[in-house]
Amino acid sequence: MRIKKAVIPAAGFGTRFLPATKAQPKEMLPVVDKPAIQYIVEEAVNAGIEDILIVNGRFKRAIEDHFDRSMELEMHLDHHKKSEALELVRGISDLANIHFIRQPEQLGLGHAILMAKSFVGSEPFAVLLGDEIIESETPAIKQLMNVYEEERSSVIGVREVAPEQVKSYGIVKGEDTSRDYFPLKDLIEKPAPEEAPSNLAIVGRYIIEPSIFELIESTCPGKNGEIQLTDALRKQLGQEGLWAVRLVGDRYDIGDKLEYIKASIALALKRDEMARPLLRYLEDVVMSEMRV
Ligand code: G1P
Repeated sequence: MRIKKAVIPAAGFGTRFLPATKAQPKEMLPVVDKPAIQYIVEEAVNAGIEDILIVNGRFKRAIEDHFDRSMELEMHLDHHKKSEALELVRGISDLANIHFIRQPEQLGLGHAILMAKSFVGSEPFAVLLGDEIIESETPAIKQLMNVYEEERSSVIGVREVAPEQVKSYGIVKGEDTSRDYFPLKDLIEKPAPEEAPSNLAIVGRYIIEPSIFELIESTCPGKNGEIQLTDALRKQLGQEGLWAVRLVGDRYDIGDKLEYIKASIALALKRDEMARPLLRYLEDVVMSEMRV
């Protein structure tokens, strides 16, 4: 079955990025000239997704307005014959059918996904976390879809992290983990380093079978008192099996300040008009830092 629907949870507080996220969602932080969440919507669209549900929180307006038409702005650009900018602005609202739902209380990622129950219905669906940009030739979520086509059970994206980082991620245990994709034996949310079964971390891309909703409904709060998607997936693993794919691409967690700066530099270097002057600037910075 082709995956046509995606859910993008974007309701977190963004506490690691305060004060920038005091009055705007971290998903709206610009990376070069686009808010982070637009990269994620574009990834889904490039993978063939037609309908996207954004689960948002307190800052509903900014994200909704971004993907909506802006008649006033369009008229202004039209009037001033700024056709390129006009095309750019219109293109955003034409990307896909974008729907919104509000997560009234932030009770965890599992709870955010539960908000999508009636939108999703009985089809398998994609989940892309709203604060992780993955730059790759084949869209990251498409890499998961390809495995789903073969295996017909939920698939999660993973990649290696440094041992000291395992406590910040869901960590998986698999069979023959050196392969590009492999069946899972277990997964655990944010383990202490001594409990971690590996250093393969769940990154923010999933294809999930719809049985997850009932499983989330019966999942008690777990790590950090939150209803964890990882815990519900663990139950699904017991019932239907679960696969992991080693994602190919560069990943940036834009909720983290250093990663955000790295994402801005890496993505600016991919723009023809910016690559050379930026590189020159970076060289200067490195040279003068080395002199100190
Ligand atoms: C969530 C998931 C976690 C995953 C991570 C990826 O955690 O619960 O399993 O590894 O996203 O970024 P969060 O970062 O929202 O706390």
